Amino acid sequence: MAAPRHFLQFKDLSSDELDYLFERSRIIKARFKAYQRHWPLQDRTLVMIFEKASTRTRLSFEAGMHQLGGSAIYLNTRDSQLGRGEPVEDAAQVISRMSDIVMIRTFEQDIIERFARHSRVPVINGLTNEYHPCQILADIFTFIEHRGPIRGKTVAWIGDSNNVCNTWLQAAEVLDFNVHVSTPPGYEVEAERAGLYGTGHFEQFADPMAAAQGADLVTTDVWTSMGFEAENEERLRDFADWQVDAEMMRAAKTDAVFMHCLPAHRGEEVTADVIDGPQSVVWDEAENRLHTQKALMEFLLLGRVND
Ligand code: CP
Ligand code: NVA
Repeated sequence: MAAPRHFLQFKDLSSDELDYLFERSRIIKARFKAYQRHWPLQDRTLVMIFEKASTRTRLSFEAGMHQLGGSAIYLNTRDSQLGRGEPVEDAAQVISRMSDIVMIRTFEQDIIERFARHSRVPVINGLTNEYHPCQILADIFTFIEHRGPIRGKTVAWIGDSNNVCNTWLQAAEVLDFNVHVSTPPGYEVEAERAGLYGTGHFEQFADPMAAAQGADLVTTDVWTSMGFEAENEERLRDFADWQVDAEMMRAAKTDAVFMHCLPAHRGEEVTADVIDGPQSVVWDEAENRLHTQKALMEFLLLGRVND
């Protein structure tokens, strides 16, 4: 049996494959909008395992698999044996014998890596503490839709060097664009944890306004990610100056877009006038989770198709 292809971090796909996926997402989205049936995954089953909360990821994978002609099963830690200490390797053996593809949202990246090593079917990272590759697939597709190719562009990341930030940094290396990161002191990017090759596609800035200067895309995320709730009070104080507001958007290019993976906290990492303003593309960004993940599942199960 051939080893399955997984999507555990962004760099698992090459730039050539990503170009294919963005073009395929465009086709799949157009078919969806035209109410055309597209059932390449008829009779296939997706298992979704959630160890953290989700709205967008669950909805986009579940709806997406149905729209591709397959079915989706939701498991969580609370009411499966996963929450009672069954080894992840055993769970992987069993789950992957009963399904065709698996999506996991969990804590440490190591958990999903171990699952994938024991899985007979493709495994997709639906968010770990370290990475959120499906989010950045959708974000870059959204950028391409609004502004064209991302190669050579500058993305400003303001705030926490979290899973979404790490994934932007990997994407910059694979797709050859730049990321300007500004975090409060003590929250800087850790290149090894981010899984970077060190190709010089990102720069850290102490001043968030300097990071936003001339950017084509400004983006941020919550100050406290899931799993880090105990640090919330401290983070509210530490991140107070790392808020994306209208002044920061003015430092970026005049046609810069604003993105946020959502859920957002207005008045914390972003002001309401920015996220609800004319430069914000957050609703397209959220919708595109559906289309890009449909293209991803089709690719992992069928390879490149040209129908
Ligand atoms: N952006 C994102 O992954 O949202 P959910 O947590 O709602 O899945
Ligand atoms: N960084 C956030 C993203 C949520 C979609 C978290 O991990 O909670």
